[in-house]
Amino acid sequence: MIKIAIPNKGRMYEPTKEMLAQAGIRFSGGERKLVCRTTSKNVEIMLVRTEDIPKYVEIGAADAGFTGSDLVVESKANVSIVTMLNYGACRVVLAVPEGSKIKSVKDLQNKRVATKLVNIAGEFFKNNRINAKMFEVSGAVEITPLLGVADAIIDHVDTGATLSANRLVEIVTLLDSKACLIANKNSLVEKKKEIEEVKLSLQGIIGAENMKYLMVNAPSDEILKEVVRILPALESPTVLKLAKQGKYAVHAVVSEQALAGVVRRLKEAGGKDILVLNLEKVIP
Ligand code: PRP
Repeated sequence: MIKIAIPNKGRMYEPTKEMLAQAGIRFSGGERKLVCRTTSKNVEIMLVRTEDIPKYVEIGAADAGFTGSDLVVESKANVSIVTMLNYGACRVVLAVPEGSKIKSVKDLQNKRVATKLVNIAGEFFKNNRINAKMFEVSGAVEITPLLGVADAIIDHVDTGATLSANRLVEIVTLLDSKACLIANKNSLVEKKKEIEEVKLSLQGIIGAENMKYLMVNAPSDEILKEVVRILPALESPTVLKLAKQGKYAVHAVVSEQALAGVVRRLKEAGGKDILVLNLEKVIP
């Protein structure tokens, strides 16, 4: 049995739940029920705050967890990143009010900077030899310049809507972040198989993203040659003989982007009965 910590709310909750469901790990819980059994007998889910997950994983309260890679940095937790995921992208930025005299990092000398990411901010000041005054808040950081308690902020940006709604402009990006699966260092040894299974499943889901499974019949040897030339596939397409002599079925994995062009060329080459299927996982 492994315990996996996931965000109990916020923008990472739904995509994490969805990703686990695709991996065959479904649970009912959320708002109130914070520890849940799942459809996988090997996995129990703990629902906690996204920013607390690195610490829970570090001390072994959870074997693994889904969180933001920036929060792993911020927490300074001694955990392993098992795999990066394909959602939860955001940046940590330094921003100032429109028209501010602060135009670059060096203008921050002796200024007040509000943030909830005190470790990332502290490291940034140290690396840039800036002596700034840090003002720690736990959220809604963008309001602090309006309240006159900060000259600049260091905070997450996703769409940029909150910055512009509060008339703030970015000066510099401190780091890029994405959702990731992390694991406790002991669990990585003691529960290697279980964690590896979750990792492969997640990587398979990411690998299948924007990919389709395509099947096409080639009714002659000449057409088969053309069809094989057109199909990119992961390695090389699979060619199967049909019951009728001299006829073949060709299977391949094709990116969604390339699909329309590939289908047109297959038709032009004499390909028949083209089927396109969704893919669940691609594990190289
Ligand atoms: C985050 C972040 C920004 C906002 C950025 O806050 O701290 O405030 O989202 O998103 P945007 O660029 O798409 O506007 P969150 O909603 O997590 O709440 P918080 O302010 O309480 O941390």
